Amino acid sequence: MAGRIADGPRLTHAGDGVPGGGAVPAEGAGRPGTDAVDGASTEVAAIDVSFTEVEDGDVEAVVALWRDPYRDLADARLGETSTVLVGRATRDLPAVATDGAPGEPGPREVAAGELVATAMTGVDGHRGWLYYVAVDPRLQGRGAGRATVVAAEAWLAAQGARAVRLMVRATNDAVRGFYERLGYADQECVVLGRPLGAPDARDAGR
Ligand SMILES: CC(C)(COP(=O)(O)OP(=O)(O)OC[C@H]1O[C@@H](n2cnc3c(N)ncnc32)[C@H](O)[C@@H]1OP(=O)(O)O)[C@@H](O)C(=O)NCCC(=O)NCCS
Repeated sequence: MAGRIADGPRLTHAGDGVPGGGAVPAEGAGRPGTDAVDGASTEVAAIDVSFTEVEDGDVEAVVALWRDPYRDLADARLGETSTVLVGRATRDLPAVATDGAPGEPGPREVAAGELVATAMTGVDGHRGWLYYVAVDPRLQGRGAGRATVVAAEAWLAAQGARAVRLMVRATNDAVRGFYERLGYADQECVVLGRPLGAPDARDAGR
């Protein structure tokens, strides 16, 4: 099922602590991209990235944001209760400045329509789950990650999910910090698992 993800009911706490909700950063928050460039804000507001369900032509751009993902993507698209959301820039956006070597060209700007964010999501009949939340490095730190999680939460809410869960390595402080900022809290559970069916190196350790 493809289509524009409309604003869903506000299940998320993603806007908490931010004056005006998720699209507007706290003044003086010191995040990259909040400075004006040529008079235009470089912040990625909710309106700057729009989310749809993934289509055939998106596959290469999606997997460029993921690691070993072709089968995961195919499985999520096949399922009736899962999907992959893709976010596209709704206007040309300057790239986040990086500390490249002197003389090297900086990252190219993001063109309107470019795929810049993904989330895999699905409901298991009880809860919603998030996987593969990823933002193009050129836009990280400017609100696109928050917009991605909000879009996935809206999709899950539309499916009837009343809670959302995700897994992050306990040692991944950067990603834990991101989710905690969005209102996610440690559920104090241990995740147990084993592969099903034929051995598959991809599933080892999951
Ligand atoms: C993790 C990721 C999705 C975050 O996206 P992003 O666009 O950089 O995040 P945002 O700019 O939307 O940040 C949203 C909020 O989280 C905060 N935040 C981000 N990282 C944080 C951290 N480590 N600690 C505390 N707060 C953090 C931001 O300051 C921002 O706060 P605000 O909106 O209240 O001002 C992105 O860095 C990414 O794609 N990383 C690589 C892939 C990855 O690791 N995905 C997670 C798989 S589990």
